[in-house]
Amino acid sequence: MTRTVYVNGEYLPETEAKVSIFDRAFLMADGVYEVTSVLGGKLIDFDGHAVRLERSLRELDMRAPCSKDELLEIHRKLVELNGIDEGMIYLQVTRGAAADRDFVFPDPDEVSPTLVLFTQNKPGLADSPAAKKGIKVISIEDVRWGRRDIKTVQLLYPSMGKMMAKKAGVDDAWMVEDGFVTEGTSNNAYFIKGNKIVTRALSNDILHGITRAAVLRFAREAQMEVEERNFTIEEAQGADEAFITSASTFVMPVVEIDGKAIGTGAVGPRATRLREIYLDESRKAAV
Ligand code: PDD
Repeated sequence: MTRTVYVNGEYLPETEAKVSIFDRAFLMADGVYEVTSVLGGKLIDFDGHAVRLERSLRELDMRAPCSKDELLEIHRKLVELNGIDEGMIYLQVTRGAAADRDFVFPDPDEVSPTLVLFTQNKPGLADSPAAKKGIKVISIEDVRWGRRDIKTVQLLYPSMGKMMAKKAGVDDAWMVEDGFVTEGTSNNAYFIKGNKIVTRALSNDILHGITRAAVLRFAREAQMEVEERNFTIEEAQGADEAFITSASTFVMPVVEIDGKAIGTGAVGPRATRLREIYLDESRKAAV
């Protein structure tokens, strides 16, 4: 089926959607993005994603293409036009297309931002078989730039990380800097020991996951202890359970790190429970 996508005010068949070769995201990775999941035809954590988008734009001195309410309307319309029950919506804002290639930012009064959104249909996203089996990860060095808190489209290294994982016969990679885990290639990383969840604290070193915020809140409400601090691969390997979070995987158990089984090597009860709580509560709050 040909998707209907959104480009700068227009809803078009994907085959007709176009952006300029001078678009700064194409030439300079000068753009930011968000991925919002859809469950039961409704948006999960839309507000969190919209607020983070505003922050990413602000940090890069980029003008917002439209208001939050307009963004919500575009998201909803795309869900409807494409009949999405479960899946994701990808949104990208770029600094737009100046008349030529230039390192200097164009004047925002002359060059308006580019706004693109498209849907990804993923039936069965919530009932994913991977969540029952768990995923395996390897560790790789984190060589990304220093502002990982801004959700930019500079995804070459995360993409290379996924390829390293694939080559190693596993599902994903956790990145390590100065001996400590930062995050997964496209997700936040955690381990569980006893009743305690450990994950890296928020800083410019990691993306401030929207799923992370919700899951930590639900964990605290469920009387689990949460410790936000640095941790090593060795410490995670010695944990009872491990998991990742993101808008596209929700809570996904990790059963092996660098070839070492975590806990029993099977998906554990706490990560499973957190996934259930996250999905239940998110569905209730979906818009
Ligand atoms: N990735 N860390 C990184 C580096 C990410 O790229 C993501 C999201 C997260 C989790 O953030 P959130 O919970 O807000 O989705 C953490 C998205 C899903 C992607 O690139 O597809």
